[in-house]
Amino acid sequence: MKPRVFITKQIPEEVEKYIAEHCDYSIWKEDTPITEAQLMEKIKDVEGVMSPKAKVTRSFLNHAPNLKVISNIAVGYDAFDTELMASHGVLGTHTPYVLDDTVADLIFGLILSAARRIPEMDKFIRSGQWTTMQDAPLFGKEVQGSTLGIVGLGRIGEKVAKRAKFGFNMNVQYYNRSRREQLEEKYGLEKKSMEDLMQSSDFILTMVPLSPETTRLIGENEFNLMKEDAIFINASRGKVVDEKALINALGENKIGGAALDVFQQEPIDTSNPLLSMENVVLTPHIGSATQKARDAMAMKAAENLVAGVTGNVPPNVVKELRHLVH
Ligand code: DGY
Repeated sequence: MKPRVFITKQIPEEVEKYIAEHCDYSIWKEDTPITEAQLMEKIKDVEGVMSPKAKVTRSFLNHAPNLKVISNIAVGYDAFDTELMASHGVLGTHTPYVLDDTVADLIFGLILSAARRIPEMDKFIRSGQWTTMQDAPLFGKEVQGSTLGIVGLGRIGEKVAKRAKFGFNMNVQYYNRSRREQLEEKYGLEKKSMEDLMQSSDFILTMVPLSPETTRLIGENEFNLMKEDAIFINASRGKVVDEKALINALGENKIGGAALDVFQQEPIDTSNPLLSMENVVLTPHIGSATQKARDAMAMKAAENLVAGVTGNVPPNVVKELRHLVH
């Protein structure tokens, strides 16, 4: 008998075929997202669950006594409670590598959009305000040759550093727990303290995974240290930033602007002050949102799922749970 698995969202046909070869599966195909109660019902006799950002709680694990693996269709796995999963002997996997370049491309889009005020200028021209040659009040900020500070030099941070160095001749500095000497050599990077990085960067990008240690890593202190024309970019997780402090810093013109793909609450509350700020560029968590990247993520998640329910070691077990397989 094939192992039973449940998938919480539509997946590409090819990925479904692959899962069908190895598993007895069902997929949530409704237009509305699955509710918690429906999910609890669906997982009660499965050995594997595949889902984007599955919120793994005690109740989730208690409802699925046969569960062996939860395959996250995303690289960030802050919705996993890894301690709890370890105590239930449940593996958690994610989808690294296949989206790194895609997210780095979006980050550069955000940097350029905020620096050159592209969305604002787009509104300007559409609203018929273009009557003469544009001058100083509408000038943007130079990207090439400026200094980019990356907080969190992981896989995606590295891809951003590469674009910054070779595409835009930027000086790239970083803050990271460990030193990345090889990358320093490859891209001419400099490791800085958090304080130095905040004070000396023209663009500051946070690219750390969300964890108890990184929650509100960037707050009032950090915004106070930034240059008054600095542009802050976040494409990791909204909770890495104290959003109120960011709103205050923007409102009081303590910094020059922000470009955000992620928010404390997603979808964003329609009363969020960020929505009415001119000096902010916003996108709705689309870092990996291309067909190619999402298809690759779904296939990788499927490979992890199948391995986890067929007695094999999934290729992308999250680091906090690797001790369960070695
Ligand atoms: C991830 O994979 O964690 C991204 O945030 C999804 O877009």
